Amino acid sequence: MFQQLLRSTKLHPKTFKLIRNYYTVKRKAINDEHYVAKHITQHIQAKGPLTVAEYMREVLVNPMAGYYMHKDMLGESGDFITSPEITQMFGEMIAVWLINEWQKAGSPRPIHIIELGPGRGTLSNDILNVFNHFKVLHKASLHLVEVSPFLSSAQARRLCIQSNLTTNDGPAYRRGISHHGIPVFWYNQLEDVPPGFTLLIAHEFFDALPIHKFHKVHGNFKEVLIDIDTKDDPDIKGEYKFRYVLSRNDTPMLQVLITKGETRDHVEVAPDSIRISKLIAERIKKLGGVALICDYGHFGTGTDTFRAFKQHKQVDPLMMPGTADLTADVDFKLLCESFNSVKDVLCLGPVTQRDFLLETGLEYRFEALKNTIKDAKHIANLTNCYNYLTDNDKMGERFKFLAVFPSVMKKIFERCPVIGFQAAVH
Ligand SMILES: C[S@@+](CC[C@H](N)C(=O)[O-])C[C@H]1O[C@@H](n2cnc3c(N)ncnc32)[C@H](O)[C@@H]1O
Repeated sequence: MFQQLLRSTKLHPKTFKLIRNYYTVKRKAINDEHYVAKHITQHIQAKGPLTVAEYMREVLVNPMAGYYMHKDMLGESGDFITSPEITQMFGEMIAVWLINEWQKAGSPRPIHIIELGPGRGTLSNDILNVFNHFKVLHKASLHLVEVSPFLSSAQARRLCIQSNLTTNDGPAYRRGISHHGIPVFWYNQLEDVPPGFTLLIAHEFFDALPIHKFHKVHGNFKEVLIDIDTKDDPDIKGEYKFRYVLSRNDTPMLQVLITKGETRDHVEVAPDSIRISKLIAERIKKLGGVALICDYGHFGTGTDTFRAFKQHKQVDPLMMPGTADLTADVDFKLLCESFNSVKDVLCLGPVTQRDFLLETGLEYRFEALKNTIKDAKHIANLTNCYNYLTDNDKMGERFKFLAVFPSVMKKIFERCPVIGFQAAVH
């Protein structure tokens, strides 16, 4: 909204800078761990129970105190760890895969590398290192879609020799130059990324998008809402306790998102996933390229997966909102349907992370890296990382990969199949 206002209004550059700085860098974190809970309580008191999607949005991306907005939540000292943070090998395999698919498309330039929700910037950094190694960075640029001002500056420190918040000369809110000398841009939304042949990656991005939750009672679906819980604890502490309630009537989202013939008793749908996947498909179809979606999830069978993580432990999503990550499994069936709803787009997968990584040659990269190391402790650590990414009881099975191409590539794939997706069953 703010971005749209700024773009549609002719402001004096100084005024523009003042407003933008107020909304970005200078917006300090609120030092009150109950801030989000108080805010949600006031919202419910004024307007009634929130949908789970409204609750997630407030908790994760509230500009003042949202979970993602002012801190680094990744790594051992944070709340969870992701594959790119475990080992550089993960990003390297994705980079090699992207280069291979780019070459199959005829090596078009300029190349727009796009990452949605880049966290610490580690995956993009590993991808750029490989692109640089294979000398494919000529006429390439990196475009990061990131809502968090804090994480955008962490990404800039990781990726750039220099970066600045921008004035009103385009939709990017930050620009920089990477260590390899290519331009890097930051945006609030994918819609703002300029046109160009696209290599898009979204790793653990879709699971963070707000979901609506529905529950079937006596044969009828109701939407799950979040209300203040004053039942057992009417004293002051109870003010910040929340509970799930069911909508009395059909909500607008229930009417739109629950399809006829739904057999599950509990359903979660993220409307933003549908919107963003359609945008990705339209972009790939119009401009050429590929998108690779990696996340944990199911193929239309998941039920009650909404949960929270704090210090690597699963916690109650309604406790101390804003202090723990909220997530829900990605519905890959819905994502595929959404990609396929755009004409002339080809969606492959999902395949498991294990299948994708082994088919793209992770074992060889692992052996090559191991041969460069002498220290036994270091080798053991690398082996643990390899196992963690690929073992079926760790990340190997739970994490899935989905690829999106323009359907004109179909003919080429008959001769040169898409590596990593041989096990695709759908
Ligand atoms: C779970 S973290 C994953 C980070 C990284 N991809 C990784 O795997 O290490 C989610 C990332 O998405 C960003 N994010 C969450 N919601 C977003 C949204 N609606 N638009 C853009 N970025 C978002 C967060 O700030 C964070 O960078």
